Amino acid sequence: MTQTEQYRFPKDFWWGSSASATQTEGAADRDGKGQNIWDYWFEKEPHRFFDHVGPAATSQFYDNYKEDIRLMKELGHNSFRMSISWSRLIPDGTGELNAKAAEFYHSVIDELIVNGIEPFVNLFHFDMPMELQKIGGWVNRETVDAYENYARTCFRLFGGRVKKWFTHNEPIVPVEGGYLYDFHYPNKVDFKEAVQVGFHTMLSSARAIQAYREMKQDGKIGIILNLTPSYPRSSHPADVKAGEIADAFFNRSFLDPSVKGEFPKELVAILKNEGFVPDYKKEDLEVIKHNTVDLLGVNYYQPRRVKAKEHLPNPDAPFLPDRYFDPYVMPGRKMNPHRGWEIYEKGVYDILINLKENYGNIECFISENGMGVEGEERFRDEQGIIQDDYRIEFIKEHLKWIHRAIQEGSNVKGYHLWTFMDNWSWTNAYKNRYGFVSVNLEKDGERTVKKSGNWFKKVAEQHGF
Ligand code: BG6
Repeated sequence: MTQTEQYRFPKDFWWGSSASATQTEGAADRDGKGQNIWDYWFEKEPHRFFDHVGPAATSQFYDNYKEDIRLMKELGHNSFRMSISWSRLIPDGTGELNAKAAEFYHSVIDELIVNGIEPFVNLFHFDMPMELQKIGGWVNRETVDAYENYARTCFRLFGGRVKKWFTHNEPIVPVEGGYLYDFHYPNKVDFKEAVQVGFHTMLSSARAIQAYREMKQDGKIGIILNLTPSYPRSSHPADVKAGEIADAFFNRSFLDPSVKGEFPKELVAILKNEGFVPDYKKEDLEVIKHNTVDLLGVNYYQPRRVKAKEHLPNPDAPFLPDRYFDPYVMPGRKMNPHRGWEIYEKGVYDILINLKENYGNIECFISENGMGVEGEERFRDEQGIIQDDYRIEFIKEHLKWIHRAIQEGSNVKGYHLWTFMDNWSWTNAYKNRYGFVSVNLEKDGERTVKKSGNWFKKVAEQHGF
């Protein structure tokens, strides 16, 4: 692709950004919100969070949403993905509805619509209500019932104006973080529970989709998955197999049931062989089979490179998916020097072509893509604007590949950056900044648009660059 080439996108392409409740709202202990696992974990172990910053205040969207939405409009957004905090709306996870929370989400949705920004609403972004975690969270089937009830409540309250719904964001991440690799509460390393959590989460997604259709809602409902392509080191059959297994664990585990209504055979075979089949009822598989998604959100940050295992695993170590592959550090890979993640723009094209060829070219959009940078303040110029040319470059290079996928027939409908304004990134807290808009924590959360925000505005207005 040459520099002078132009990249025009369809007129109705969705330009915007994405965010989540716990990472942006703040007001974690106000107006009747219940605790979620993040509030609880931070209270217990603040040292696990960067600079000991917890979720209590985050980016104050709860108080500033009108101003923030005005800025979104200014930056050319025609759509924005947010999430509802389950523990704000239903503080104990089940039971009483928090009227103040309903009022807040009604106002946010109204404000977006008045500003010509379509709300895309996600129901679950890593933030399990603590009362449900106390009974086991997704390990316990009762949480699936509670979630369906929560989903029905959201459809009833907001379905009249919200026409794009998502059941989960990156459902594999709480499995990895909470039950395999120790970066979410409850910090377990227990593959059996991990599989149960994965199954119940998938079931909850299908049950919410079933409820949405039973309630005769007239929008679209989908799921947001972090599809990280697994690239094998080489074409050696052992490397290729390692790549296929990593793909089955981390991508196809949710992609196949969400889009095709069935789990990948390769994954089922491993779980059977290793003795990790989850508890389920026969009818669950029917619910999953008949309630696939209308629309798929794709989050893409970095590729996963793998190779065949170098050594026999320790037979006494806890079982982890990594028993089947090793990570591969490819010489010469391009890095985000500020964050330490590989940048591989073509990955987004590979995902879209895979969806086109193997998943019925399902309607989809890039629901997250972005570049986290530590210490971004050093790029602020005399006018106070963060000169984030690296982010512009990052977005541009990904958009070029998305453009190519469209030309080849991909059904991709939009691009949302992670994220609108700098926010609280779980255990990384405010370490890495991702926003179009900077949030100055020293100055009571003052917002300033970064160079990338102004650039994106033009791209959205001109339908390309
Ligand atoms: C995505 C999540 O995985 O990546 C976001 O949906 C998250 O919630 C984002 O903040 C960036 O990752 P990190 O680890 O740098 O915060």
